Parts: sequence; C-alpha cells; structure tokens
Amino acid sequence: MIVCSCNIVSKKDIENVVMDFLNADEWQLITPGKVYQAMSARGKCCGCFPGVIDIIVETTQRYHAQMQSPEPKVVDLLKRIADQRLRMETAKKRSAAKRQSPLVA
Ligand code: FES
Repeated sequence: MIVCSCNIVSKKDIENVVMDFLNADEWQLITPGKVYQAMSARGKCCGCFPGVIDIIVETTQRYHAQMQSPEPKVVDLLKRIADQRLRMETAKKRSAAKRQSPLVA
C-alpha cells in the first residue's frame, strides 16, 4: 500500500526503516523526517506525515511487545511521539492560518 504518493513510499518501506532504527536504538524518537532521510526522500506536501506517524507508532508498539519491554518506558516513548504529532499539527494549522490571512501593507 502506497502511503506517500509524492515519493512513492509504501507502508512496508516505512516499517522496514522504523525497524532498522529500533534495532539500532529501541528508545530513540523516530520522526517522519528521520524516516524519509533514511530513504533518501523528502517530505514534499507532507500530507502523508500523520499516516507515517501512525505507522511509526504501530511498528514501535509491535516491536516493544515482541521484546517485552518495560511498559512505563514504552508509555513514555509513545507520549513523546504523541507530543511530536501535536507539535506538527499545531505548526500545520499556524502555517495554514498564515496563508489565509490578508497581507498587511
Ligand atoms: S504525500 Fe508524502 S510528501 Fe506528499
């Protein structure tokens, strides 16, 4: 399934990169930017980023369930990912509001 039509990136491509990151450091904060950089791609319209974050969360949860990681640490990591999503959505709203506001001479 294609998740990013700008870069033709599939869900499996993203899951593989996330697994590589988790295997390198299971507690690092993985962002869409990091994932795209690892694939030598860039966010163009960034419309796929919320879906990419969902895939990062799902893959991270599955990884830590398999590893039987301590739950408090997993909850903290997922909170950091949720905070990242909130910051991204806030920035997106501000950017949209700026584009819609009339120019002041
Ligand atoms: S759909 Fe992914 S950057 Fe545009």
